[in-house]
Amino acid sequence: MQIAEIGLLGATGPAGSALAARLADVGYEVIVGSRSKYRAMEARDVIVDAWPDRDLRIEAADNHGAASAEVVVIATPWNAAAETAASVADQLHGKVVICMSNALSKVGREFQPLVPPRGSVSASVQAEIRDAYIAAAFHHVPAKALADLERDVESDILICSDHPHATETVAAIVSRVPGLRPLDAGELSNATAIEAFTAVLLQLNVRYRTRVAVRFTGIPDHAVAVSGGGHASGVAGSAAPVTAAPVDGTRHGDDDVDDGVGGGVGPDVAVT
Ligand SMILES: NC(=O)c1ccc[n+]([C@@H]2O[C@H](COP(=O)([O-])OP(=O)(O)OC[C@H]3O[C@@H](n4cnc5c(N)ncnc54)[C@H](OP(=O)(O)O)[C@@H]3O)[C@@H](O)[C@H]2O)c1
Repeated sequence: MQIAEIGLLGATGPAGSALAARLADVGYEVIVGSRSKYRAMEARDVIVDAWPDRDLRIEAADNHGAASAEVVVIATPWNAAAETAASVADQLHGKVVICMSNALSKVGREFQPLVPPRGSVSASVQAEIRDAYIAAAFHHVPAKALADLERDVESDILICSDHPHATETVAAIVSRVPGLRPLDAGELSNATAIEAFTAVLLQLNVRYRTRVAVRFTGIPDHAVAVSGGGHASGVAGSAAPVTAAPVDGTRHGDDDVDDGVGGGVGPDVAVT
């Protein structure tokens, strides 16, 4: 399925507006959503005014209007994600819904992960909208870097979902953004670890006064190739299904891969 239009709920915040700008820059029609259509219009204008030379197709709407898009991203704080999804449930049935929210708390200078009901924000959204295809993605990519359209963001994007179709769809979207590489990180149960790991990244940002992003070694680019342009082609219109084995609809079938459980040495993957 070729996706043309992506709506973002809570896109007046740094994460949603940055992702909206980046997705529009690679050719998607984007709907910036908010609880207030006027705030959405302001957020849209900020993006468009910042990049006057780019042909960014961005509309503004309330969250309900943004949820009418083919694919929907939830970019609210963690404790508002399920409630926000529920508020537009009539628009989400049968759609791929991406949740990028992280359940975190800042205690003094420390970021600490929280474990929300059902283990992750994404799982709580899936429980709320059972016939949508929830995928967890974009948790680790720093909004400031994502918003700077002059520069590629060098980052892997971990995607997890209980629906291979959703993983494929999100991987195709990620693949259109130069510098981003989609990785199939398994089922939605892994969102617990992915969301919680964000606390570590934020702590690194504080400690080293930077903005880190995640890049895994040990996975060659050809293993995550997306048909129709490669993982980082940036070619508008290349949103085609991922052809790599991990998202073939038969999850976890690699018997010869050391899974790091039961005495093995653990997966030979490092984070850079
Ligand atoms: N910032 C980053 O670098 C980054 C990167 C990756 C992932 N994330 C994750 O993305 C999510 C959003 O991050 P953010 O920094 O953009 O957050 P944020 O600014 O705190 O919130 C984003 C938007 O959510 C809406 N919102 C706030 N409270 C709400 C509520 N109770 N109910 C419904 N909507 C509400 C607001 O939009 P309206 O008032 O206009 O409706 C707000 O502008 C977070 O969960 C974060 O962990 C952030």
